[in-house]
Amino acid sequence: MYVPKNIKISQYLEDKAINSLHSSNHPLSQPEDEQPILQIWGRASLEGEVRISGAKNSALAIMAGVLLCSDECRLQNVPILVDVTRMEQILEALGVKLNRQGNILDVDASNIGKSQAPYDLVSQMRASFFVIGPLLTRLGVASVPLPGGCAIGARPVDLHVRGLQAMGADVCIEHGMVHACVRGRRSRLQGAKIYLDYPSVGATETLMMAATLAEGETIIENAAQEPEVEDLANFCRAMGAQISGAGTNTILISGVDRLHETDYSIIPDRIEAGTFLVAGAITDSEISLYPVIPEHLAPVIAKLQEIGTQIVTDAPNRLRVVPGALRATDIETLPYPGFPTDMQAQFMALLAIAEGNSVISETVFENRLRHVAELNRMGADIRVKGNHAIVKGVPRLLGAPVMATDLRASAALVLAGLAAEGKTIVQGLHHLDRGYDNLEGKLSQLGAKLRRVTPQTQTSAKSSPIGQPNSQLSVCTSQLSPHQ
Ligand code: UD1
Repeated sequence: MYVPKNIKISQYLEDKAINSLHSSNHPLSQPEDEQPILQIWGRASLEGEVRISGAKNSALAIMAGVLLCSDECRLQNVPILVDVTRMEQILEALGVKLNRQGNILDVDASNIGKSQAPYDLVSQMRASFFVIGPLLTRLGVASVPLPGGCAIGARPVDLHVRGLQAMGADVCIEHGMVHACVRGRRSRLQGAKIYLDYPSVGATETLMMAATLAEGETIIENAAQEPEVEDLANFCRAMGAQISGAGTNTILISGVDRLHETDYSIIPDRIEAGTFLVAGAITDSEISLYPVIPEHLAPVIAKLQEIGTQIVTDAPNRLRVVPGALRATDIETLPYPGFPTDMQAQFMALLAIAEGNSVISETVFENRLRHVAELNRMGADIRVKGNHAIVKGVPRLLGAPVMATDLRASAALVLAGLAAEGKTIVQGLHHLDRGYDNLEGKLSQLGAKLRRVTPQTQTSAKSSPIGQPNSQLSVCTSQLSPHQ
């Protein structure tokens, strides 16, 4: 089916229910009864400092961006996550050579043998769709399956497609694949003026990457201003791209003929950092975080202070949580610099035990309140009305078995478990592993009592006191993931 430039294809994509077959709720390679769970014994005090990993969302976009360059590139501060592993697999399937040593990833995209990204990988992770921009601008042709990802809404790609069409690409969607090619003998995208109906992070990134090698100048208006967009722009500039305005709502890109090698370090993950700030607040603990870029956390810090938690900047890249009595507040998720949707679930866990009533409004995604039912299982008092959650603070949460419904919801349940009385068991850890680099290992180091086990070992886990590892337990480790 060809998609004419003036047709909104979001309805088409919604009808296709892109998440239904391969949503991240779909059973993974392990049978359900073998999937690991996280046991948390709540109300332990945390102390010390935690090292924040590289930003997942930057890493994924920048890894797509390496496709723009025919020289070798080195990426540093790459987090160890299932989503990053999936992106590595996608790049390898396209012919890119990779060498990973811890947090350093060496990439050689000099020979891209394929212009078609593999369905089984792309369908599991939405960010992998972003390869369409660099592939198309470098090769003149690209085929990428419609994406999957968190089960938090339909998440169409119409803005990506329409932007590429404005740059002269022919795009058709057939059998779940988006096929794009560039017209004309020179197979080169043309610079264009693109206004995004919504400041989509992914569409801004796709189009910015596509424009780096296009002929002429591209202007993206109403662009996303997220720090990860700016990080991607800085990476592209380090390779010689001509980009200005990234981090504002208007980005200007002058296409160049080729990009060159670079060595680039990814920014710290503001969402992981925000999650640890909430961990300090919810456990009434003083903890420090580094490295961080405090200005990326401005909306999160402002809300924490409203709630009664002080955040102190001890050094330009170090923050400390000074806990206090928690009080209710209202939150509305918005594109950056508004409050991030990726912190909404974690703040809901926090407000669940704050004094008073809070209203949390989710405006970015249409189906991102599914953790409410799970938090209520732990004794929270939260009602959903449309895209609003009305949170009546309760004095305490009680441990319970709960199921993670998406990536950030899984973090919220871990946080709730840390604050709850008794034992919480979090299932659905494949969500957590997609986006957190060793969350439970880092929490353990701060003094949290938690442990990852597989169900067959639970009987022995029960009888094994914390701190005395049982040989049959798979104790939390960053290496564990449902895909390995
Ligand atoms: C990125 C982040 C994700 C974050 C989100 C919003 C990555 C890998 N993921 O996701 O963690 O929660 O930004 O900050 O960077 N939309 C359309 N048409 C499009 C594209 C998007 O309607 O073509 C809609 C989406 O359905 C959603 C909203 O725009 O309702 C925001 O999506 P977008 O900013 O594109 O998020 P992602 O890039 O997918």
